Formats: sequence, C-alpha cells, structure tokens
Amino acid sequence: THQWRGIIEEYRDRLPVSDTTPVVTLREGGTPLVPAQVLSERTGCEVHLKVEGANPTGSFKDRGMTMAITRAKEEGAKAVICASTGNTSASAAAYAVRAGMVSAVLVPQGKIALGKMGQALVHGAKILQVDGNFDDCLALARDLSDNYPVALVNSVNPVRIEGQKTAAFEIVDMLGDAPDVHVLPVGNAGNITAYWKGYKEYAADGVSRRTPRMWGFQASGSAPIVRGEIVKDPSTIATAIRIGNPASWQYALDARDESGGFIDEVTDREILRAYRLLAAQEGVFVEPASAASVAGLLKAAEQGEVDPGQRIVCTVTGNGLKDPDWAVAGAPQPVTVPVDAATAAERLGLA
Ligand code: F0G
Repeated sequence: THQWRGIIEEYRDRLPVSDTTPVVTLREGGTPLVPAQVLSERTGCEVHLKVEGANPTGSFKDRGMTMAITRAKEEGAKAVICASTGNTSASAAAYAVRAGMVSAVLVPQGKIALGKMGQALVHGAKILQVDGNFDDCLALARDLSDNYPVALVNSVNPVRIEGQKTAAFEIVDMLGDAPDVHVLPVGNAGNITAYWKGYKEYAADGVSRRTPRMWGFQASGSAPIVRGEIVKDPSTIATAIRIGNPASWQYALDARDESGGFIDEVTDREILRAYRLLAAQEGVFVEPASAASVAGLLKAAEQGEVDPGQRIVCTVTGNGLKDPDWAVAGAPQPVTVPVDAATAAERLGLA
C-alpha cells in the first residue's frame, strides 16, 4: 500500500511549497534507473539510464509541471500557456486538467510528433499551431502571458527548474553519490540547468560528496550552443530539440563550465543509431531526442574521450511511443499468415 507520492511530497523540504500549497500531482518522478549492459560494455564504464519516459505523461516535463501548475493554482491562475515542441504541451494539458484549469499551447506547425499532439487534444488543451518554429512559439507565449491573464509554464518559469532538479536527487539517492558524468540531450536547455542545480544542492548540503561533469548534446542541425550563435532555421528529426535560441542558454554554459563538462552535437544519423541500439539491445524504447544523450556518449567513447571505469548516467527524456514513426520506418513489414501452426512455425524460422 505504499507508493511513490510524486516529487513535491517526496522532496517537499527542497522545493518552494508551504503547508498550505495545493499540490497538483500525477505522482510523477520515482523513475527507473536502469543499468545499461551494452553501453557499459562499449564504454568500459558503469552506464545507467534514467528512464524519464516512465513519467505519467511520458516525459521528464512532468517533474517541472507538477511544480508550475501547483504554484499557478496557489496564485489563483485560471489558465496556463506554454510554447512546446510537444512534451511540455502534453504535460501542461494533463496537469491543467488535474487543477481544473484551462491550458493553451502553442506548437510549431507540422513539427510535433503525433502522439504528443494526441495527448494535448485528449486532455482538452486549446491548441494553436503557429506558422513558425519553437523559438517563435516561445516569444508569442511570453507576449501573451505578459499582456493577458494567463500563466506561463515554460522552463523560463523558475519553478519548472525546481521541479526538474529532483531527477538529480533521485539519482544520488539511488547510487549513494553523484555519478562521474551525467549526459543529457539539450534543447531549450532547461533540463541541464535543472540537473546541475540539483546536483549542486545535494553536494552543498553534504548529501553527496561530489558533483558530476555535465555533458550535453544538441542535434547538429539545431546546435546554437555548440556554434555560439542563434540558429535561425533549426532542423533535425529529433523534433523535441528542434530549437535555435534556447531560453536557458547561459545557464547551460554555466553548468558546462562549473562542472568541467562540455556541450557537443550529434547528427541525426548518430541519434537514430543510438535510438535503435537502445530499443534493440537495451530494451528501452525512447523518442529520438532522448537518444541524443546516448548518441553523444557513444561518440565521445569512439573519440577516446571516455576514461573506462567511470560511473555514467544518461537521461533518456521521453517515451518512444510518443513518436513511433522512426520505429516503423525502415523496419521490415510483418508478414501475414493463416491460422496454421506449420506455416507460422516456418515463417518464424522455428521449423
Ligand atoms: N528531450 C525531450 C524528449 C524533450 O521534449 C526536450 C524538450 C528535451 C529533451 C530537451 O530539454 O529543452 O530542457 O533542454 N522539450 C521541450 C518541449 C522544448 O516543448 O517539450 P530542454
């Protein structure tokens, strides 16, 4: 009869809530930390996957959204708004339902995965497809929240970061200390900011003895932080991280520099290779953007940048079911058989 209570109850003393705060939760967090056997062999390290696709709406966004919607409710908001490449909008829509609020979401026209659109729709969000990219959507969402009675729940809202930092707490709580290296995909750069904040907090309070080096990976066609300049027309198959002007850019640089880490890029080809490896060899189905962390680790290992014997955690940020197109594309078509054991056995190569 004991179940995980959600990140606010589990980490209440480290989050900006009071005894009277009306907690809005779907019992997010408490996600699996899964030992990655093949990745460990390939790198000579002890690699773990923090499987954030196991959150209630299928991505890490739920950690930030429980905080953002909880605080919006506390402040009396009736409506929330966000810009999104899909996961934030799915999460905002679900938590708004729990809070009895209206949600409005702005998404780039034609550039969000079908599963995520389905989530926003089924949770009753008001959806606007914007004739622009994510960066345009975010500018519009900020404008609307500045001038109309609607609360912004993007990660520029600092309580989102507070919620998301709990993933770092969970990892330290499981492993007994911080890992040597933490690897993440980077889009709007809120999550790398949040993990770094969480790791620093635990180290400062003596819960952990050290902090990890933070390694972030952007998609090559959407790598403004790597290039050092805004990418006007970002492109990548990993639509979740198709972002040309990350809101938390400076915080990502701080996380990189303070931790002694780096931020690099991975190509769509490398992302898809890691995506398939995770599914086919680790049994973990993630969405393409999530595979950027693992693609980055493999790239670093192939370049001889990964010293063996380290403990490494890769966050895989979203569930593969959100965007199954890439699982189906290029895979062999299943064969059709009659209801006949001999034929079925033959087709399965059993006979
Ligand atoms: N992975 C997934 C699956 C995401 O949805 C996102 C961001 C990221 C990684 C990158 O995280 O932005 O904190 O650096 N998705 C946002 C959204 C932009 O709208 O759902 P980040």
